[in-house]
Amino acid sequence: MNKCIVGLQWGDEGKGKIVDILAEKSNIVVRYGGGANAGHTVVVGNNKFALHLLPSGSIRPDVKCLITNGVVLDPEVVIAEIEKLEKENINLKSRLLISENTHVVLDYHKKEDLLREEALGKNKIGTTIRGIGPCYADKVGRSFAVRMADFLDMENFKTKLQKIVDYKNQYFGAIYNAEPMNADEIYEKCKVYSEKLSPYITDTTEFLHKAISQKKSILFEGAQGSLLDLDHGTFPFVTSSNSSSLGMSAGCGVPAKYVDEFIGVIKAYTTRVGAGPFPSEQENDTGQYIRDRGHEYGTTTGRPRRCGWFDAVVVSYSVTIGGIDSLALLHLDTLAGLKELNICKAYTIDGKETTFFPSNLAKLEKAKPVYETVPGWEEEITEVKSFDDLPENAKNYIYRLEELIGIPIKMIGVGPKRSQTIFR
Ligand code: GDP
Ligand code: IMO
Ligand code: MG
Repeated sequence: MNKCIVGLQWGDEGKGKIVDILAEKSNIVVRYGGGANAGHTVVVGNNKFALHLLPSGSIRPDVKCLITNGVVLDPEVVIAEIEKLEKENINLKSRLLISENTHVVLDYHKKEDLLREEALGKNKIGTTIRGIGPCYADKVGRSFAVRMADFLDMENFKTKLQKIVDYKNQYFGAIYNAEPMNADEIYEKCKVYSEKLSPYITDTTEFLHKAISQKKSILFEGAQGSLLDLDHGTFPFVTSSNSSSLGMSAGCGVPAKYVDEFIGVIKAYTTRVGAGPFPSEQENDTGQYIRDRGHEYGTTTGRPRRCGWFDAVVVSYSVTIGGIDSLALLHLDTLAGLKELNICKAYTIDGKETTFFPSNLAKLEKAKPVYETVPGWEEEITEVKSFDDLPENAKNYIYRLEELIGIPIKMIGVGPKRSQTIFR
């Protein structure tokens, strides 16, 4: 069985936890998109791992971990992660594979991300400043792109890098009046990256297709969420890749027909980091209650996450465009103690009701949520092990979400640990 795990809201749904759990019965986990903007949390006993680039299967010692062509890889971050895991006696030497076609995030990408956001002022996107947009822009632009394969030929790379940095210096100087960067300094860092990462660089597409023909079990790990998808999300307040499940095939060279199940990960409410529309947002005591109980602060940037009610319009849209088969619903425990829960089941736009998510910003800004109110539950549920033992109102909440979304909720999170997961 091959499965693809993908976030259906604005990211941070709990993909890391689900991938870690499913990795137990998988041979291979593939990170196919995004970069160090992602922060995937895996909790094992008292240990908490926040992974930005390494697949969330890394903690399982027998799992092969792939970072494929769709990722934009910051070498500094991945090296730090490998070394951090080594300190915990988790070795990736023979089981991490990085595609030679993976694009590389370098200092000038992070610098440009920061300069642009600063220049935008109150109109900024609220990016993670991890150089994601500028690196993907270089990928699309081609002429100044750096890929992992470049680290295998450092002689040629030196000349190439000098040209790129010359260009960036002229550009940043003219547009942002920025101080020039030193190509030699960047090259010296790249020499270290090359030494440390060359052993992992390979053809991951070939590896994956061999694995498919050998009937290995593969998990494809999405990053971000479907509403942050460059084409189908809340543009321009999105990330720079196809972060819905639609990005999977292009991101690793495996057609969707080899995926047996697309699993969408959702929270029992909604969160978002960064700017952009969020119809069911609660900038009030309810939002703060969720933030406090759910520890809703960014894994990558530490920013407080914006919090709001569950939005079935958002999730139904992500299911529809993503071909999602089943759901993992996390953070059900966070909602305990709220007398009533609101579920956004439609929007009104200019007086007309719609249940299909309008990705167009002008329409979305006018969207007013239509809520259905259901009773909440008082009891803490973090120790509940089976669906039947959940409070009646928690069960009813799940039934209602399934009705609105139209596909089954097969896994339920009642806490961050592996053991705090109910399978149905
Ligand atoms: P990801 O980016 O989708 O992997 O999600 P993050 O790791 O950024 O954020 C999810 C957070 O929720 C992490 O701190 C997890 O440890 C935590 N978490 C995951 N599932 C649950 C759950 O069911 N209940 C609670 N309370 N926390 C959870
Ligand atoms: P995971 O994989 C939540 C958001 C940023 C910003 C927008 C663009 O942990 O779910 P970028 O740095 O990508 O150019 O920022 O996208 N964003 C995320 N939000 N979870 C993520 O990843 C995110 N990755 C990017 O906050 O609004
Ligand atoms: Mg995250």
